[in-house]
Amino acid sequence: MVTSALPYANGPLHVGHVAGAYLPADIFVRYLRAKGKDVVWICGSDEHGAAITLRAKKEGISPQDIVDKYHVIIRDAFDDFGISFDHYGRTTSQQHHQTAQEFFTVLNDKGSFEIKTSEQFFDEEAQQFLADRYITGTCPKCQYDQAYGDQCEKCGSTLSPLELINPRSTLSGSTPVTKETSLWYLPMGDHEDWVKDYLQKGILDGVQHHDPKAWKNHVLGQCKSWIDAGLQSRAMTRDLDWGVPVPVEGADGKVLYVWLDAPIGYVSATQEWAKKNGKDWETYWKDDETALIHFIGKDNIVFHCIIFPILLKERGGYILPTNVPANEFMNLQGDKISTSRNWAVWLHEYLEDFPGRQDELRYVLGSILPEQKDSEFTWGEFQDRVNNELADILGNFVNRAVVLTGKYYDGVIPKAGHFTPEDLQVLEDMRSKRGIVGKSIEAYRFREGLQEAMNIARIGNKYLADSEPWKVYKTDPERVKTILNICLQIVAECTVVLDPFLPFSMQKIRAAMNIGHQAWDSTEAAFAEGQKITSPGILFTKIEDEMVAQQIEKLGSKEVETTIEAPKETCTFDDFVKSDIRVGTILEAEQIPKTKKLLKLRVDIGLEVRTIVSGIAESYSAEDVIGQKVSVIINLAPRKIKGVESEGMILMAQNSEGELSFISPTKDFGSGSTIS
Ligand code: 2FM
Ligand code: ZN
Repeated sequence: MVTSALPYANGPLHVGHVAGAYLPADIFVRYLRAKGKDVVWICGSDEHGAAITLRAKKEGISPQDIVDKYHVIIRDAFDDFGISFDHYGRTTSQQHHQTAQEFFTVLNDKGSFEIKTSEQFFDEEAQQFLADRYITGTCPKCQYDQAYGDQCEKCGSTLSPLELINPRSTLSGSTPVTKETSLWYLPMGDHEDWVKDYLQKGILDGVQHHDPKAWKNHVLGQCKSWIDAGLQSRAMTRDLDWGVPVPVEGADGKVLYVWLDAPIGYVSATQEWAKKNGKDWETYWKDDETALIHFIGKDNIVFHCIIFPILLKERGGYILPTNVPANEFMNLQGDKISTSRNWAVWLHEYLEDFPGRQDELRYVLGSILPEQKDSEFTWGEFQDRVNNELADILGNFVNRAVVLTGKYYDGVIPKAGHFTPEDLQVLEDMRSKRGIVGKSIEAYRFREGLQEAMNIARIGNKYLADSEPWKVYKTDPERVKTILNICLQIVAECTVVLDPFLPFSMQKIRAAMNIGHQAWDSTEAAFAEGQKITSPGILFTKIEDEMVAQQIEKLGSKEVETTIEAPKETCTFDDFVKSDIRVGTILEAEQIPKTKKLLKLRVDIGLEVRTIVSGIAESYSAEDVIGQKVSVIINLAPRKIKGVESEGMILMAQNSEGELSFISPTKDFGSGSTIS
């Protein structure tokens, strides 16, 4: 039972997602299928939670419209990229709601939750309780100032809203009040002992469940620091109107916490798959013989290694993960991938810009997967690897082997004659790779597996160059039959061993050579001598400098329009003209001590010089602003800020990143000029 993290249906996928939880799982599953294993691979869209509703608010459409839009974009991009899930579900499906509610009900009935009434943050303006991404503040662990109410994305700590320092509502930006509500908590502390044994020793219910040495260090490390800090109770419900309703009488306006409902999505999607395919879903979730493997990114580790296992064990009868081979993050061209800054390679855009070239991206990402530490994608490396490795080694070798067979033997695979010791060595080297690659894949070392698999093409390329059939043909045409026969055996071997990594190209080669998809463990010859083959055409064309330049140019280039704030309500002209706005000139500026944002300014507004406190210090330093022309509202009632009386307000433009810019006349107008 293999799962990949359900992506939030709140935006398209980028290469970071692909390299995290999807490409590695696809390689793994394609390999298991070739091994003849009974494997099912499940994924789907995660369609609940604040990630969705906040996006809906930004785009000015309903949450349902958001998930309908992105579910299709994501599903189609996966499909086009050859990500071969057995089923791609969605958490708004009826099956999912039913399964998640049933799961909750069983736990609730057996008393697995603690229901507690307490004060929680509430946004009075938005009339909504604030949890998860609805609230940001400073992380108590690492001081990052944009931690969410459930998690700090900087240090990975899981948080609860009440732990945040300086909490702010992401809906209105205001400081929240508190209000009483009841929540269902999972008392994780009660499970600490067995969770520790399960993760640190691989022991569950007194028996060896798995080998903890097979788990990645960074995964166990993150779990350990969580456990060492003591497992805290965690709320499993939210006071929101988007999600799976809490199936308890009187719990109106409450939904399941998205991190309770989403992993159950793996189960409900398996049920959908089973129904469609006449299978029994329970074999995959309840049979001790089944290994459950979760592919995820590192920000999802605690949910899959601690919280979901606790839920599964409490629910009873379910198996627990055998391994959670989480990947770390992938950066891009020297910076973190960022959706809002458009610093990303979007999968659907890649597929449009490089049609039919899925394997090129699969190859490059496969070579740099962030398996043990963060890694980086650059377009320069993309070009180098495609040109120097895929095109020059693999593509070139396959092409020459096939073209020479066409030229000398009319495309009929020649019969091998006498094998020299070198021939035998080459064949042995080639045959040794299948086992090596298989071991790497089983150990979740896909980069290593890919390099070893490519070594088969390297062996072939070198053999062809060393044996020079184009020269030998003139003096010893019989010998060339053996050389090309060996080359074609190597090509055929590639179609097995490289298939999990480069399925599109390998399929092209198999079709051209008229050979089937051989099982991984098969020892049969891939083809019969005398069989006719055609050319698969050029497998990989070179990436030109211009294409690289174009892609780099695209990065960060467009402000994502959808982050533009929604318009405010209409106000009357009379209301508007009440504001007295003037051109002012900043004469003096100093940072207000112990604040990050505030500058104390002395501003000449023509009529007089005023003191104004302005929250611009994150965009402008005090030295930068002296002499700056600005727009000032001069008829606001004075206000004390940090002990300083502020006698006006500077108008600022703000972009979607929260950066500020002065608004000043483009002609040299004096202080006191009016603005209307
Ligand atoms: O982090 C995320 O993108 C989540 N949507 C992953 C959910 S994984 C699973 F539990 F569904
Ligand atoms: Zn932190």
